[in-house]
Amino acid sequence: MKLVKRAVITGVTGYVPGYVLTNSELEQMVDTNDGWITTRTGIQERRILKGEEMGTSVMAIEAVKDLLQKTATDPAAIDLLICATITPDRITPATANIVAHAVGATHAFSYDLQAACSGFLYGLDTAAQFIASGRAKKVVVVGADKMSAITNYSDRATCILFGDGAGAVLVTADDPDSGCGIVDTICKADGAGQNLLYQKAGGSRLPASHKTVDAKAHYIYQDGQNVFKAAVTAMSEVVMEIMAGNQLTPADIAYLVPHQANRRILKLVADRAAIPMEKVMLNINKYGNTTAATIPLCLWDYEQKLKKGDKLIVTVFGGGFTWGAMYMVWGYDGGKAV
Ligand code: UT7
Repeated sequence: MKLVKRAVITGVTGYVPGYVLTNSELEQMVDTNDGWITTRTGIQERRILKGEEMGTSVMAIEAVKDLLQKTATDPAAIDLLICATITPDRITPATANIVAHAVGATHAFSYDLQAACSGFLYGLDTAAQFIASGRAKKVVVVGADKMSAITNYSDRATCILFGDGAGAVLVTADDPDSGCGIVDTICKADGAGQNLLYQKAGGSRLPASHKTVDAKAHYIYQDGQNVFKAAVTAMSEVVMEIMAGNQLTPADIAYLVPHQANRRILKLVADRAAIPMEKVMLNINKYGNTTAATIPLCLWDYEQKLKKGDKLIVTVFGGGFTWGAMYMVWGYDGGKAV
């Protein structure tokens, strides 16, 4: 859907915890090796949030505090704060409430958004709609996940993939004639994928019990091969759909910003869309899959290289299944937040 008022990202920040979990450390924990992990996933290390009672909000708060400082934004001027996460501090209240309180966003309403690895894109689309309608002028979207809290470090099929991190963006209203901002978004979902990537217990269907803990049912489960195939098909189709819908050719695109699930997936998606790998944002090697945080962490890592007017295609895929793509025109040069 095309927007009347244009929402634009005016700053991005990220936070990753200090502890680096390397492939060689994983070799000591499960039957795996650096060669397999690197060639099959592209991941060399990931960050882990250590410490008692350290929840996702710890990372989200750091990212949002930096964002407000970097963009010289009065926390009280934030109208809405959305936290995309599948690893909230607690089931209730929302982690977004905790973050808003901690950063002094006293006039913001805030809530969590759960769309697995697509959460940040869904959240950014939601922010764009609030801006477009005039309901909000300044929105913070933070994608944050402490995947180590739901990862089974005796399951080699999943423990090599995930890491912890947070990334945040400030979304504001831009002059529609500036040409910058979020131009178009496609969000999709299909619950047929519900049993291919999920956390079995801990919700209302199977509440926590001694039995569920003993069965390790609180950890993330993934049918890797089927998720891989679904991700490649869905992401490449939606990227091509949004490019065609906006009359974009690969030459027009400055960067493809894909959810960092597996380097091989990203290569296949880029190939199908005829976008060369030099134009694909990649940081999976150092952070792994941080679920809702991958997209803002990519934008944060590449921010210095971005120029006002750069055309970006963001694409995501995750549990649900959920997926989507967004076409945006970047609003500022380099690390100079607006
Ligand atoms: O973010 C949400 C979306 N998530 C994704 O998009 C992830 C999608 N899936 C994947 O990225 C990949 O499927 C994985 C990385 C999870 C697995 O890679 P794969 O190439 O699909 O491997 P596979 O499951 O087909 O396993 C191939 C072999 C098997 O051994 P055999 O049966 O051929 O002897 C596995 O047992 O690799 C073995 N294997 C491992 N070996 C060493 C599986 N995990 C490991 C491991 N280390 N960690």
